[in-house]
Amino acid sequence: MEFSIKSAASDKHKTDCVVVGVFDNNRLTSAAASLDQACKKHLSELGRQGDLPKKLGATLLLQSPGTISARRILLVGLGAEQEFKEKQYREVVRAVVRALMQTGAAEAVLHLPELDVNNRDLRWRLEQVVLGAAECEYRFDGFKSKASNKTAALKSIALNVAYKAEVSKAEAALRGAAAIAEGVKFAKDLGNTPPNICTPSYLAQQAKDLAKRYRLKVEVLEQRDMEKLGMGALLSVTRGSAQPPKLIVLRHDGGKKKDKPCVLVGKGITFDTGGISLKPAPDMDEMKFDMSGAGSVLGTMKAVAQMKLPLNVIALIPTCENMPSSTATRPGDIVTSMSGQTVEILNTDAEGRLILCDALTYAERFEPQAVIDIATLTGACVIALGHVVHGLYANNDRLLDDVRQAGDAAYDRAWPMPLLDDYQEQLSSNFADMANIGGRPAGSVTAACYLARFAKKFHWAHLDIAGTAYRSGKDKGSTGRPVGLLTHFLMGRAKA
Ligand code: BES
Ligand code: MN
Ligand code: ZN
Repeated sequence: MEFSIKSAASDKHKTDCVVVGVFDNNRLTSAAASLDQACKKHLSELGRQGDLPKKLGATLLLQSPGTISARRILLVGLGAEQEFKEKQYREVVRAVVRALMQTGAAEAVLHLPELDVNNRDLRWRLEQVVLGAAECEYRFDGFKSKASNKTAALKSIALNVAYKAEVSKAEAALRGAAAIAEGVKFAKDLGNTPPNICTPSYLAQQAKDLAKRYRLKVEVLEQRDMEKLGMGALLSVTRGSAQPPKLIVLRHDGGKKKDKPCVLVGKGITFDTGGISLKPAPDMDEMKFDMSGAGSVLGTMKAVAQMKLPLNVIALIPTCENMPSSTATRPGDIVTSMSGQTVEILNTDAEGRLILCDALTYAERFEPQAVIDIATLTGACVIALGHVVHGLYANNDRLLDDVRQAGDAAYDRAWPMPLLDDYQEQLSSNFADMANIGGRPAGSVTAACYLARFAKKFHWAHLDIAGTAYRSGKDKGSTGRPVGLLTHFLMGRAKA
């Protein structure tokens, strides 16, 4: 989809379709009122007959009466004015794009960004249209043998802003939003790609391709490198797999040389069977999404590279499979992590923390200003928070605030969870420095507490995205989250 900015009266656009909103009680928005004037009060008449869309997201397509420049008018219901907030705006955007895709219109002008959305700024209103439209447009059908014949005519969307003086600012916002949308799409594609294709080597190749295209620096550590570094925890997870593990280091050097980098660590388990602690069969296919942390980190790197963000960012992706075999790690095995701390592996299905802990230790060498890890870490987080917000933990209050605010700005929200020492005792082991599981209570918290033991040397935040990275059921697929949150976080650090 192509996006552009316009600033004109709603009746003056030469376009396939002009889109304006109406509140319930026949309250026309100002863009709808201008059309009404130019159409001899046609919309008011519709309202009197009770034919204007009332419900949120309901649409009505009209042919132009000839007195305006557009070929069609799409009216969209905004519901009750006092209830019109972020969630409603996002629903309206999606309803409009879906309705437009059903028409023959190749392009359209949307007056939605002029709406007041709970005092959100123009930048937010534009970004949400771009991301919403990209979501409606997204298909993952490269593995179907026949191409779908249902491709929409819609190719470009113009967003109208109220004031001409806002146009250049709006165009800059649009470029940023388009970069985020591309990052989200990349993360979704990686997540949706089947696990026989999306292997650790595949992720490494994707990182190399990204590096080439955007002139990033990339280095891929192999198993023998991990052995030399003493990454016994990471190596214990890959032992059952025929696929070689990788540790991907991808750098965007957008800042000054002396500036400390932000490090993003993404869990890259390309398939999680549970290992010897085998998972039950139902829905096990969804464990192809267990590399979503890695996917979101790569998507974010794509977005920040495209934006040429003036900040040093390092992506660190430990990636391997978690498979059962006669060479796989057994429950009861004790391994030594790169930090020197020993771990008794009581459940081989708690593998995410094992690959992340060595990556966190590796991150120390970059002297980071902040480290954020992103992981589909625990089923317990899905029970705690569902599919709405990411679980957020941090060992530093300012970082916690920054991440939370970035999630709010992107509408890709994270919610603080307790990272308290009182939970640490659940990880104690009779035989090693710690166990890799903390029992049933507070499973997401004890996983974070485990990671915290390897993140003492820097400001660190952890996002548990087990409930937010993908959808199950009929709409099964990657969400591309939290590319929006991460990109906004880095945009904030680039300004500071
Ligand atoms: N990848 C899973 C977590 C997960 C579960 C993600 C459901 C998405 C949906 C992780 O590796 C895992 O298996 N965690 C275990 C930890 C337990 C053994 C302490 C879990 O949550 O059951
Ligand atoms: Mn697991
Ligand atoms: Zn896992």
